[in-house]
Amino acid sequence: MGKLSGKVALITGAARGLGRAYAIRLAQLGADVGIIDINLKSHLDFEKEAIGNEFTTVIDELRSMGINAYGVEADVSDELQIGNAVDEIAAKLGDIDVLVANAGGGSGSLHENTAALVNSEELKKVMERNFYGTVYTVKAVQGNMKKRGTGKIVTVTSLYGILANKEGSYAHYSASKSAIISYTKNLAQELGPFNIQVNAIAPGYIGTGRLLDFFEKDGLEKYTDQTALKRLGTPDDCANVIEFLTTNMSDYVTGTVIDVSGGSIR
Ligand SMILES: NC(=O)c1ccc[n+]([C@@H]2O[C@H](COP(=O)([O-])OP(=O)(O)OC[C@H]3O[C@@H](n4cnc5c(N)ncnc54)[C@H](O)[C@@H]3O)[C@@H](O)[C@H]2O)c1
Repeated sequence: MGKLSGKVALITGAARGLGRAYAIRLAQLGADVGIIDINLKSHLDFEKEAIGNEFTTVIDELRSMGINAYGVEADVSDELQIGNAVDEIAAKLGDIDVLVANAGGGSGSLHENTAALVNSEELKKVMERNFYGTVYTVKAVQGNMKKRGTGKIVTVTSLYGILANKEGSYAHYSASKSAIISYTKNLAQELGPFNIQVNAIAPGYIGTGRLLDFFEKDGLEKYTDQTALKRLGTPDDCANVIEFLTTNMSDYVTGTVIDVSGGSIR
């Protein structure tokens, strides 16, 4: 029996990267796993995100672990699509006990989109993907959790949602991730009486397949030097915190943000 045996977990943006690491960890803990991603084959975009040749998507990988898994392609920033996708997954796997609203990301270079000059189109796109996407996903799962009087919701912010970038750059992404923190704290207050814990994870510089090449090209030390631990984080470092926030170890923890940045300063 795993800590999450008999539970159903839904993870968005889990076709690769951190979301995939979360899906695999929750499956290892015994949960059945539903995935929503705008592209279930997004691992093909980056060589370092390769999954075993025997698998077409992370869904096959999860099923090979002996749990039930089901995936739907949907855009989290489209409220209708995400609502339908959640219903489809619940119909296949059962009531959702755990949500990790992970889908998201920035756009453009880390040195662009300074606060005063942020590109309005990019601001809209990034807000919709990160903030609206999180809100729409929560809206789609919360009703059933409330009815059942149980649930764990983890939202995904970023170190960039807590601290400012030196030149005020990447402000569209930072602001969208800060909005998620405020939303998470309010949601925790509203859902606490229903025995639903709501917390956020704030990863720092994590070496996913997508980012490893970038960090190396841009100068790895520039990023590791900002951390107390003098290294990049790994997807497993984040999955450890997801394990804590989705199991009964965190039953008296709600409305918090856990910084998984190796002690970054900026
Ligand atoms: N990797 C890091 O260092 C880091 C640091 C801080 C925060 N984060 C956050 O963690 C989350 C995952 O990051 P990652 O590095 O694994 O990203 P990634 O780009 O490698 O993976 C993101 C996944 O989300 C999917 N996705 C993107 N937009 C979507 C949409 N609108 N609807 C549904 N699916 C969508 C993509 O297809 C992809 O599979 C993001 O929210 C990101 O902002 C990552």
